[in-house]
Order: sequence, then C-alpha cells, then structure tokens
Amino acid sequence: MYKIGTLNKISPVGLARLTDDYTVVEDIAEANGIILRSYDMHEMELSDNLLAVGRAGAGVNNIPLDKCAEQGIVVFNAPGANANAVKELCLTGMLLAARNVPAGLAWASTLTGTEGVGKAVEKGKGQFAGTEIKGKTLGVIGLGAIGVLVANAAETLGMKVIGYDPFLSVKAAHSLSNTIDIVDALKDLYPQCDYISIHVPVMDDTKGMIDAEAIAQMKDGVVFLNFARDKLVNDTDMLAALESGKVKKYVTDFPNDAVIGKEGVIATPHLGASSAEAEDNCAVMAADEIMDYLENGNIVNS
Ligand code: MLT
Repeated sequence: MYKIGTLNKISPVGLARLTDDYTVVEDIAEANGIILRSYDMHEMELSDNLLAVGRAGAGVNNIPLDKCAEQGIVVFNAPGANANAVKELCLTGMLLAARNVPAGLAWASTLTGTEGVGKAVEKGKGQFAGTEIKGKTLGVIGLGAIGVLVANAAETLGMKVIGYDPFLSVKAAHSLSNTIDIVDALKDLYPQCDYISIHVPVMDDTKGMIDAEAIAQMKDGVVFLNFARDKLVNDTDMLAALESGKVKKYVTDFPNDAVIGKEGVIATPHLGASSAEAEDNCAVMAADEIMDYLENGNIVNS
C-alpha cells in the first residue's frame, strides 16, 4: 500500500484517481508521494519514505529541486492542465485594465446607500472611459501551453500578437501558432506592444528580467501583465515606471508588499489556476503521474 500526503487542499476528483493500492495519510513524514499546489517545501525536511512529488500546477519554484534530486525524489508537474484557466484570467486582466473596470467598480460602490444613483452614474461615468483591445498589439513572452492559448485568444479578439520564447527557435514557435508574429529577440517585441504578457517560469536567467532596461525599451503607456510569477519583475523598476507613466498599468496575479495598493496596479491573489476545472485537471494529472511512477517506474513531466 502506497501512502500519499497532501500539502494544500487538493481537488477530490484528483484524489479519487488513487486506486485501492493507495491511502491518503495525515502525517506527511509517512508519505511515499506528495501532491501539492503552492505550499513552499523549501524549509521542509524530506523523509526517507518520500519517492515522488506531484505539483498540481505548472511552476515548481516552491519545490527544492536540488534537494529532491539528491535524495532521489522525482518531481512532477502538470503542464497545460490549468492553461485555459490562466488564459481566461489573463484576458480578464487585460480587459479590466483597458476599460478601467477596477476604478469604475470602486467608484460605483461608493454610491451604495445614496439617493439618485442612476443620475450620479450618468454624471460620473466619463472619468472612466477606456480603450478597446481590438486593433492593439499584444506581446507574449513565453510560448508554452499558457502563452500560446493567450496569444490565440487575443487574436480572436482582434489583437495583433507578437510572440517571443526564450527556449524555442522561431521555427519551433511557428509550429505552435502560425498566425502570430514570432520575433527572436525581446528588443524587437518591446517597442511594438500596447500590452505585454509574460508566461515563463522563474529561473536564474528569467528572475528580474522585467527591469528598468527592459521597461525602457517598451512603448510609453504600455500595460504589463504578469500571470506567471512575481520574481520575474523587478518591483522597484516597475514602480518607478508606473510613477513616471512609462507603464500605464501593472496587472499582476502575484502582488507583494512592494506593489500592493500602488497607483496603476491591478492585483489578484494568485487566482490564475484557481478554477474548479483547472484544480481537477491538475490534481488528476499529478495523481496519475505519481501512480505511474510508483507502480511502473514511468517518468513523465519531470
Ligand atoms: C501554477 O504554477 O500552475 C499555479 O501556480 C498553480 C496553482 O495556483 O496552484
């Protein structure tokens, strides 16, 4: 009997995949396999019982990969399983920014309990006029499962899309989407885009890649969207760019102490993958990967 532990609330649909050969245990030290979402495992002691970790999501920056490798623990992730959810929230973020929805919502809620709301609305609405995204240019940095979905969806909304992927050749990127314009350097993407959305993992060479130097190459008044990870963006440089008006809005699913509540920041609490469907898909994929490894030694998405 294999023992599985969980470090976050994991979809029951995923846990229901576990066959009779598995039991879900409370004591994580007993577990042969762990399924988790964003729990940070870096400070955790890894017991000798642990053979596999299944990240019910794409990013593995919350897992101590080197420590796992040293102890022979295989780490899996669930690439693509939540891509549609992230795509939908990313498009939502773009539309929220374009149409000044957060400011409009906040203003409308101040009218609660007052008389003549209808009249006040008609008087006040002019201050929130926005722009349409149709006809604007979106730059997508990172053309993995999420980036490609965002690019394709933006095109269906009438946007022109320019894509760049640090890990794919232009030819390989074109095989994923032959309608978007692929560039082989960010310097060719930055100056052309009204919106830029980043979809790369945090690694040594992507950490802080959106810094003053990168921002300086962007169009004045660009809207920058981050539904990937906060560490990709240099906060100090982003805040300076918001203050100067170089960046019009910073839409982030990863607010931190530095950016929360700042003028021009539209923040959601790491909700990209938090749809019922994505939670099920990710948990199912992670459970299947762990079972396939423990029973058959197969390693997929490691
Ligand atoms: C991901 O890396 O795919 C997300 O962070 C998943 C999650 O929110 O659990």
